[in-house]
Amino acid sequence: MSKVTVIGAGMVGATCANVLAARNVADEVVLIDIKQGLSEGKMLDMYQAAATTDSKCKLVGCTNDYKKTAGSDVIVVTSGIPRKPGMTREELIGTNAGIVKSVVSQALAHSPRAIFVIVSNPMDTMAYLTLKSTGLPKSRVIGMGGALDSSRFRCYLAKASGANIHDVDGMVIGGHGDTTMIPLTSKATIKGVPASQFLSKKKLAQVAADTMVGGATLTGLLGTSAWYAPGAAAASVVESILGDQKRIIPCSCYLEGEYGQSDIMIGVPAVIGRKGIEKIVSIDLTKEEAEKFEASAAAVRKVNQILYDTKAI
Ligand code: NAI
Ligand code: 2OP
Repeated sequence: MSKVTVIGAGMVGATCANVLAARNVADEVVLIDIKQGLSEGKMLDMYQAAATTDSKCKLVGCTNDYKKTAGSDVIVVTSGIPRKPGMTREELIGTNAGIVKSVVSQALAHSPRAIFVIVSNPMDTMAYLTLKSTGLPKSRVIGMGGALDSSRFRCYLAKASGANIHDVDGMVIGGHGDTTMIPLTSKATIKGVPASQFLSKKKLAQVAADTMVGGATLTGLLGTSAWYAPGAAAASVVESILGDQKRIIPCSCYLEGEYGQSDIMIGVPAVIGRKGIEKIVSIDLTKEEAEKFEASAAAVRKVNQILYDTKAI
């Protein structure tokens, strides 16, 4: 029996639950929210779709009843407020730190062995807060941002080159922020061939720039932040955990010397399997990428400092 709880039945949480259900990633998917009836309604809606989607999962929706989440293998945290046009992810910290800390402690009390996948923004800092406030081993707290940013990178690489998105590969590391993420253009490939053989330097730089504001572009269009790609990306991390797929996914991981950084959670490639973060993968960065990573870590650290200043940890 495998069980996943998604906390927050808003746009991202419900989309994640829907992908988990449609892909039969777990035997049971629980969606929980503080808003009365929201989770129950969304899960009933998904069950009404099950005959068509062929979902075989048990689908449970509940309002703030953590007993129903008991024994979860994975907990996905999406509760909190999203950004509005013109806002940065970092501006959400005041509200979201309190929400994340509270939901994580309630969920952990009922699922002491769970692996946590943190989505709420500012994600790297919310993952750091989760790790520090619970004392969980670093393998069991995973920040989801790199999976999304990498899928956006692949989207823009495909658009610019005209290649099929499934033939395109690319990875984004660093913090999950408009100015802190680092699309690794030097390592992007199209059917295993360096993307630089298909796209000029100028076009690759544009792909990287589009990727970095990929979320902000959607916030401008939608009036709130995106959900389809974020929900699917979070579900892909859960799938790698429960299926012990050992996929290499850039995730926000707690570093202890890797990539020259310590006491920080930030996006690096990691092997994700049944034990959570099973290995941080070291890759050679160009001098420019390494400098950007250092600057990104400094920016994430600055946001983490707010947690200490406000005594959230
Ligand atoms: P939303 O507003 O649609 O949903 C948030 C839900 O959280 C609401 O239904 C709300 O009732 C619920 N909530 C608030 N406090 C709660 C509590 N104490 N317990 C349980 N539920 C609670 O927002 P959306 O668009 O789903 O975004 C959720 C979060 O995910 C935001 O912080 C957003 O910035 C972040 N995000 C992160 C991404 C990433 O890649 N890491 C990508 C996209 C969004
Ligand atoms: C996104 O990247 C805002 O983190 C959210 O869409």
